Amino acid sequence: MKISLWMGALVLTGMTLSAPLSSSAQDSAAESEIVKSEQLPANGIWLENLNLVNMSQEYGSPNARKSVDSNPLTLGGVVYPHGVGTHAKSEVALLLNGSAKRFLAMVGVDDERAKAADASISFEVWVDGKKVASTGVLHGGATPKLLSVDLTGAKKLTLIVGDAEDGISDDHADWAGAVILLNPGAKAPTTVGVPIEPARLVIPAVSPTPQIHGPRIVGSTPGKPFLFLISATGAGPITYSARNLPAGLQIDGATGVISGSLKSAGEYSVTVTVKNSKGTASRKLTIVGGEHKLALTPPMGWNSWNVWAGNVDDAKVRAAADAMISSGLAAHGFQYVNIDDTWEGSRNPAGEILTNEKFPNMKSTSDYVHSKGLKIGIYSSPGPKTCAGFEASYQHEIQDANTYAAWGIDYLKHDWCSYGGIAKDNSLPELQKPYFMMRDALYQANRDILFSLCQYGMGDVWKWGAEVGGNCWRTTGDINDSWSSLHGIYSSQDGHEKYAGPGHWNDPDMLVVGAVGWGNPHPSHLTPNEQVLHISMWCMLSSPLLIGCDMSKMDAFTVALLSNDEALDINQDPLGKPAGRVANNEGLEVWSRKLWDGTTAVALVNSTIQTAAISVNWETIGVKGSQPVRDLWLHKDAGTFNSSYKVEVPAHGCVLIKIGKSAS
Ligand code: GAL
Repeated sequence: MKISLWMGALVLTGMTLSAPLSSSAQDSAAESEIVKSEQLPANGIWLENLNLVNMSQEYGSPNARKSVDSNPLTLGGVVYPHGVGTHAKSEVALLLNGSAKRFLAMVGVDDERAKAADASISFEVWVDGKKVASTGVLHGGATPKLLSVDLTGAKKLTLIVGDAEDGISDDHADWAGAVILLNPGAKAPTTVGVPIEPARLVIPAVSPTPQIHGPRIVGSTPGKPFLFLISATGAGPITYSARNLPAGLQIDGATGVISGSLKSAGEYSVTVTVKNSKGTASRKLTIVGGEHKLALTPPMGWNSWNVWAGNVDDAKVRAAADAMISSGLAAHGFQYVNIDDTWEGSRNPAGEILTNEKFPNMKSTSDYVHSKGLKIGIYSSPGPKTCAGFEASYQHEIQDANTYAAWGIDYLKHDWCSYGGIAKDNSLPELQKPYFMMRDALYQANRDILFSLCQYGMGDVWKWGAEVGGNCWRTTGDINDSWSSLHGIYSSQDGHEKYAGPGHWNDPDMLVVGAVGWGNPHPSHLTPNEQVLHISMWCMLSSPLLIGCDMSKMDAFTVALLSNDEALDINQDPLGKPAGRVANNEGLEVWSRKLWDGTTAVALVNSTIQTAAISVNWETIGVKGSQPVRDLWLHKDAGTFNSSYKVEVPAHGCVLIKIGKSAS
């Protein structure tokens, strides 16, 4: 194998060369001419002419002969007629079948980001599983580098752009003039994507015996309305009872709805019991009475945006509440039915917010949702307009909080949007100000309203979201149903775990399983295993679990994903300690967290495009000696292990396990 890396002088990367080095400065000069040329070299094929659908990237899409922002590919002032413009992090694999000779490309940050301080990337070339060339970190404006890699006999070529471990902002990456020189008469290489395999999960048989799910702890402000549906599965009819309910609350024995209003502050240990013809199940529910004790576990529910966007209306919200019950998801802990943007009308002469024609009577919508024991959420912005351009709360905060309370709203998503035009700058006080203001407005209302901050992570919101009263805060931009989006978002959460806990959670955005599509629903574009990874990681991260699909049209797979009680229990764990990443070996990752019952939850995540074995060592996760391991998607015990556990994980997939014996 021969590698040369040209940047004025010949540089070799520190690896064993399996063939004599023959590249010279002269060769490199000739190769530089090839990648700059309009003309295809003999037996060559431009990278841009391969199927780039399989090139992943975390912003935009791969552009043939253009930068990611669709400008001419330009490096160091030179325009390249050929090549691919991409964005970190990016990866594509090419099957060569031993029919190629050499790969050439000039690489760097496209000149459209030459001056951007955040632009920093690295390029790597892998051949048959070995890294054979890498540029190190390249900043915006740095001299581009020529990559020249011998492909003699090679089967697979992988091209990777990393983000230099500092986030992907401004990481516009060019594979300029990228060309594969083939043996005469050889067939063009094909690109490979992640295999679409059946998900690694077992859909369990529905058990007729009663079981209780959902939060084990719930809080409410004394004197304000309390509503909590006991989530329980089992053959109907089920009857419900509760022992030691605090003063002010009562339970409906037929529906399992606990309602009323707490008389006084305190922590109450209630025993909840459900019964049917097959048996009885009991468990403890802690009810906390205190000021603003909301979201003691992450909120679970549905939000209209990812499926309906601007097409949401009253009928769709009522249908979502119906489906939450009929699909059985409410019985697994899902409680909130949240209306996102585009419900807003104008204001009346008194300045009170009105709904638009899609929501003729918000109080009646809310009564309908509450009649099922579910809670209802709404959306606004601290600016004058919402993201979709509707009336928002600027200078009407108290009025709006009181209107929401009068309507019976339980949850507010407060989305920065046009407040960008009001804030003086991006300083911390300016970022916090509108959220302090809305927090105070919500606190003075005569109803508990969960406060969800949405400002995409600005100013490291995870460090101060709790201080401004946030029960959860978006940590990223909007999610979509692509691997790039999913991968970019979950991997950026590492390190944020220390800021979250009961009452205040990181929110890496809503779920994209099932039929999603922002007004034009289609089955999620995530592969089945990517969907398993998505749900596993959102559980591990203690993320709010807001379903983003049409719940009236869920297939058995989607229901299985959303109703895995063993996974949901991690999300709802009362200790509330989200996972962090404890190991990452070239995309084979281990995330771990401690649970309230003394066990440890571990996600073994494979972000590469090939099935791979991943192991977790007990010492990495603070565990000792012989430990039982349970596989939470196969719903079975994997055995007892002494110092580590190793398992095959599908490409873009996740194996979720629980290690240890429950002390509960
Ligand atoms: C975005 C927000 C989305 C959605 C949308 C509505 O800013 O991140 O989740 O709420 O606004 O316009």
